[in-house]
Amino acid sequence: MIGILGGGQLARMTALAAARLGFPCHVFCASADEPALDVCAARTVAAFDDCEALTRFAQSVAVVTLEWENVPLEALDIIAAITPVHPSASVLRVAQDRGLEKRFAREVGVGTADFAIVKSAEELQSAMERFTLPAILKSTRMGYDGRGQVTITAGMDAADAWAQMGSGEGILEAFVAFEQEVSVIVARREDGALTAYPPVRNVHRDHILAETHAPAALDPAVQKEATALASQLAMQLHVVGLLAVELFVLKEPNAKGQRVLMNEIAPRPHNSGHWTIDACPCSQFEMLVRCVAGLPLGSAVPHSQAVMHNILGQDIAKCQGYIADPSACLHLYGKKESRTGRKMGHVTFLKGKWD
Ligand SMILES: Nc1ncnc2c1ncn2[C@@H]1O[C@H](COP(=O)(O)OP(=O)(O)O)[C@@H](O)[C@H]1O
Ligand SMILES: [Mg+2]
Repeated sequence: MIGILGGGQLARMTALAAARLGFPCHVFCASADEPALDVCAARTVAAFDDCEALTRFAQSVAVVTLEWENVPLEALDIIAAITPVHPSASVLRVAQDRGLEKRFAREVGVGTADFAIVKSAEELQSAMERFTLPAILKSTRMGYDGRGQVTITAGMDAADAWAQMGSGEGILEAFVAFEQEVSVIVARREDGALTAYPPVRNVHRDHILAETHAPAALDPAVQKEATALASQLAMQLHVVGLLAVELFVLKEPNAKGQRVLMNEIAPRPHNSGHWTIDACPCSQFEMLVRCVAGLPLGSAVPHSQAVMHNILGQDIAKCQGYIADPSACLHLYGKKESRTGRKMGHVTFLKGKWD
């Protein structure tokens, strides 16, 4: 039995991949109507600070993985005392904090946007004076799909921006005039064996991933740089499982000769890897299962080019067309309620042979 922390679509697709290899999954999540609960063998619906529930969950499984990097580290510690957890708390600690993430990247020679950690409106004010604007203010913790982010323009009031961001700690990032956004998903086993899916190009709308194009059209040298950078991060972090790395590709090399900068990392399956279900011999979800179960890595070499579109609440009517389209591979997450901006499913179009 494989334990999965979190019950969203990523957990659902992980459980489906596990089932294909003969493994039942036990899903631990906070509410009873989460997508993964439809497809798992066992379930615990409890809060992430419920020690008793965490303990019973850990005792029932051979290994635990997760679909969400913001699982409280205390919960992971409770589980790890009983059964192995991949990825580990040390990986999550870095991935939960945009500041630590960028500092870590720089320590291992990976480029990022220039940044400053700011702990108050006053610190933001002084950072704004040092930075070329526009810049982006993000909360260091808990942000996703653009939440907790404020674009800082010249003349903006620091106190207003600070209040808009929310509370806690912030990171001010120089705006990167990227040519394109790409991501690389790396898989790593406990013994260090590692593989990576090819870089793909991502298009965001309203800060939410809208499309993934596989492959990204990149010069071979840039493709190599992106893959090497992502592999370096996975290795240095000692990730067991997946590491999704979001990257900015620059038009020209920067002063350090870098064409690729890290934006953020996620040690779990990633929305920009959904295309691998239909276009690769081994999907990112199966790859995760293989890594945490100690099985050999699968093949990350695609057989088809692909374009993936997210299906958000407002797009749900399009499914009528997708379901009738023989070139569309439709995946719906079984969410009970549709809302604007909510990820309801995705569709992958295969685009001919990969070469
Ligand atoms: N420093 C930056 N320069 C330019 N664009 C950025 C920068 N940081 C974020 N963005 C844009 O905002 C999107 C969301 O930011 P990201 O840091 O990935 O947060 P999230 O956790 O919401 O995905 C990015 O995919 C990119 O399009
Ligand atoms: Mg992102």
